[in-house]
Amino acid sequence: MPLQVIVGAQWGDEGKGRIVDWFATRAGVAARFNGGDNAGHTVTVGEQIFKLHLLPSGIIHPHVIAVMGNGMVVNPRTLLEEMDMLRQSGIIVSPERLRISYAAHIITPAHQALDKAIDAARGTGLIGTTGRGIGPAYTDKATRRGLRMADLLSAGFGEKVADHIQEANRSLEMLAAPPLDPAPVCESYRQYAAQLGEYVADASAELHAALQAGKTVLAEGAQGTLLDLDFGTYPFVTSSTTTAPGALTGLGLGLDAAQGARVTGVVKAFQTRVGSGPFPTEVFDELALRLRGTGEQPWDEYGTTTGRPRRVGWLDGVLLRYAARVNGLTDLAVTKLDILTGFESIRFCNAYRHGDQELRDLPFGPADLSPYQPVYEELPGWSEDIQAARKWSDLPANARLYLEHIAILTGLPVRLVSVGPEREQIAEVG
Ligand code: GDP
Ligand code: IMO
Ligand code: MG
Repeated sequence: MPLQVIVGAQWGDEGKGRIVDWFATRAGVAARFNGGDNAGHTVTVGEQIFKLHLLPSGIIHPHVIAVMGNGMVVNPRTLLEEMDMLRQSGIIVSPERLRISYAAHIITPAHQALDKAIDAARGTGLIGTTGRGIGPAYTDKATRRGLRMADLLSAGFGEKVADHIQEANRSLEMLAAPPLDPAPVCESYRQYAAQLGEYVADASAELHAALQAGKTVLAEGAQGTLLDLDFGTYPFVTSSTTTAPGALTGLGLGLDAAQGARVTGVVKAFQTRVGSGPFPTEVFDELALRLRGTGEQPWDEYGTTTGRPRRVGWLDGVLLRYAARVNGLTDLAVTKLDILTGFESIRFCNAYRHGDQELRDLPFGPADLSPYQPVYEELPGWSEDIQAARKWSDLPANARLYLEHIAILTGLPVRLVSVGPEREQIAEVG
């Protein structure tokens, strides 16, 4: 299995981090291909809970080489903090183990200030971004004035940062937001350059070499399919390609790398979303509280990055079928099945109603979902604790029935079932 891509099949927070951690046992290289510190990927190993925003989740395994691809936008401050956090947990983070693409873009405080000011100016159309500067950093990339990791190595880096802050200040002024003082920002970024310069590499060449040598490369997506810039619920999306083809463009791999690749879609057993945008199967009140949790457990549905309560609802099979298609999924990893334990019955949406029509697929993608009403199917629940299940036959019959329905509605095999946040709490199917 040369290239193994792992992507979120919903609106993010599906449990990608823990699934990547499972695959990393057998991988040589783990790479992130999109997004920045808007992501929050959790890996739970015993008492330790790792929350990774930028580093590939595979880095927790000592044998794995970690790569940050050209498709990413990197906040150097968050990155250095995360590197320190891992070191304090005894994980080695060195230039031998971590390679950052010279073509990845750099996030600055100006991007963060612009992100907040631009989203606030949207008024009722607010996206509810994470405020991490993601959109403005990708805007600078597209308008060809961004700062890249390679710039850290150039003598003129400080001046480039100063020019960038001055340019951003003009935009901030138009948004009636306070300008930034370039001097302290330049000073910090000079220090970041000194600390991060030795990690800058030709990630694309190194990944090619790893694949040529027969190593398994894990490509870890951030966010989820429905937050993809092109294929998500636009404009309520992030600013990168979150879908599987982004693993190629975001890592500098050619189409040859896609030959024989596996693409695992991580699917939470119910639907969640942080921030604004359509959500046809959303539920409220008591039922929502039951799915979300009260916030007492680390896995309750509160954002890993922002702490915001996540919106929750029943699994949306129409959107999942769509995710299977646009990613070219080969199999599924279903997470948080344990949260559904104790429900008398479980609903999932298998079609949308539009007037007197029933649609199993979306005519124009998921941007405007307002005309549709979900059509639900209902299955019996289970009451047995499933957290100790490690294989298919350990799961109660009704849990298997629900998983079989997910397989039928997508036409894809369920390969892994996560039944708790712990590294070991996973049932392998087949
Ligand atoms: P990611 O962004 O896709 O990596 O997901 P997050 O880490 O943001 O959110 C998933 C949350 O659910 C984390 O707190 C995980 O520890 C937790 N989690 C993952 N899988 C399971 C599971 O099967 N059961 C339970 N109870 N929690 C899980
Ligand atoms: P992981 O990788 C869930 C959401 C934000 C907002 C929209 C745009 O942990 O699954 P942005 O800051 O990217 O411009 O915000 O996207 N969002 C996420 N939601 N999980 C994430 O990452 C997200 N990253 C961004 O809440 O609605
Ligand atoms: Mg997350």
